[in-house]
Amino acid sequence: MHYDHDPRFPEGFFWGASSAAWQVEGGVNEGGRGVSIIDINSKTKKPFADNFIAADHYHHFKEDVAFMAECGFTSYRFSLAWPRIIPASDGKVSAEGLAFYNALIDELVAHGIEPIVTLYHYDMPLWVEEELGGWKSRETIKAFERYVRVCFETFGDRVKYWLSINEQNMQIAYGDWLGVSKGCTDWFRDQWRINHIINLCHATAVNLCHELVPGGKIGPVPGMVPIYPYSCEPMDQIAAMNAEEFTEKIWNDTYAHGEYSEFVRAYWENNDIDPGIEPGDEELMKSAKIDFFAINCYRSNTAKWAPADAKPHSYDLNKTGEKGNLVFPVVPGAYQLVYNPHVEYTDWDWEIDPVSLRYLMRYMWDHYHLPMMITENGFGAHEHKDANGEIHDQYRIDFLRENIYQLGLAVEDGCEVIGYNPWSFTDLLSTGNGIEKRYGLVYVDVTDDELNEAEAAGTLPPCKRIKKDSFAWYSKLIKSNGQDWGGEITHGC
Ligand code: BG6
Repeated sequence: MHYDHDPRFPEGFFWGASSAAWQVEGGVNEGGRGVSIIDINSKTKKPFADNFIAADHYHHFKEDVAFMAECGFTSYRFSLAWPRIIPASDGKVSAEGLAFYNALIDELVAHGIEPIVTLYHYDMPLWVEEELGGWKSRETIKAFERYVRVCFETFGDRVKYWLSINEQNMQIAYGDWLGVSKGCTDWFRDQWRINHIINLCHATAVNLCHELVPGGKIGPVPGMVPIYPYSCEPMDQIAAMNAEEFTEKIWNDTYAHGEYSEFVRAYWENNDIDPGIEPGDEELMKSAKIDFFAINCYRSNTAKWAPADAKPHSYDLNKTGEKGNLVFPVVPGAYQLVYNPHVEYTDWDWEIDPVSLRYLMRYMWDHYHLPMMITENGFGAHEHKDANGEIHDQYRIDFLRENIYQLGLAVEDGCEVIGYNPWSFTDLLSTGNGIEKRYGLVYVDVTDDELNEAEAAGTLPPCKRIKKDSFAWYSKLIKSNGQDWGGEITHGC
């Protein structure tokens, strides 16, 4: 569809940015916070910094919210750290943990910023893993239920938009990256039992939100990578569908329909997989009606058929930030991912493909007909201050402008999109490359080496905040409700 006007965004559209507790807060030994599995996982990414200090949002949150207000934010998506709220296996709720989040939420509300809160973003308390068995155990469902009940009861008077679990699909599809597969002896089968337990946690949270939060709305947060067939060769289309099923569609179908699809059931049967469904589980899943999809999307992928006798290979992510260091997966008899000759790539070999965001919105709307908000989208880069201490991130401006324009075209196409919260507001810790891989509109003036040294010395670096060029650009765009594009659109339509 071609439009003779720039896209228009609805009144009341949520403009903001996004973060996650373990990636932004730091303060891991403060406020009575317990140890989390991600504290341990992040130490495996050395020489990059772990999450001990991160962006030190724990001490800078008021300053950060003031910057958000200056930028013109109407929303901010962040996560609560379960180990800050229920730090130990005695199950006691930490008053200090609640006080921290109460103060953050109050600060946001006082500045007219809608809090959009993720309940779980990879930071399970260590006691849940060690004493209950983590995602491998059904005991964890009860612990999660208790935790989310505390969250809804404490914050539900001010927080109306809730997100259940961040990127469940990515946690399962790439189990080793975030440590979910740790301790599993047969990941091929174990992943489906773990996935089922997470689904029950999600469903529990959805129902409790509706029961406890007046006017509360809740949705899942799939990590979405739109997948194109490499060519019009028919088997490439089947390959793209297979890749889509095994990395995202299986999860989205379950969230939206409250039951497992025929596709995944057939796969389990053909592969002798028992996902551990017990009496009452399917009723619980069916009863959990989500209100919207929160969607994380940074890139697209391209799939090609992989014959049954192809040599299998797992996904080796680019862990260096130097182009060309990524190895795509090969799944014999299903698909292989390949480079797309039509798009550019970031230094981490992520496709730069704004049009895929419009495609994704159309795809999700057609399949599920539920409102959508973007909860992550953004450009990770190596960044340094120039001689004047400024950060000129024109590449990020270009990326965001093109992506938001495509999102607007999806709105024009008839999709119901309620907000855009890119990753991230300040620089924060990436999942694998510390603070070296920066996403923020606001620079945090600290390096991985400085974070490592400060942690070893027991000191706290200043972590000064410096607005990047993208801050001013984004501010103009959102204050005009998506009309002041501040530059040429190259993927227009
Ligand atoms: C998303 C995650 O998948 O991608 C975030 O929800 C993550 O936690 C973001 O930080 C970007 O990925 P990375 O690896 O560049 O940090």
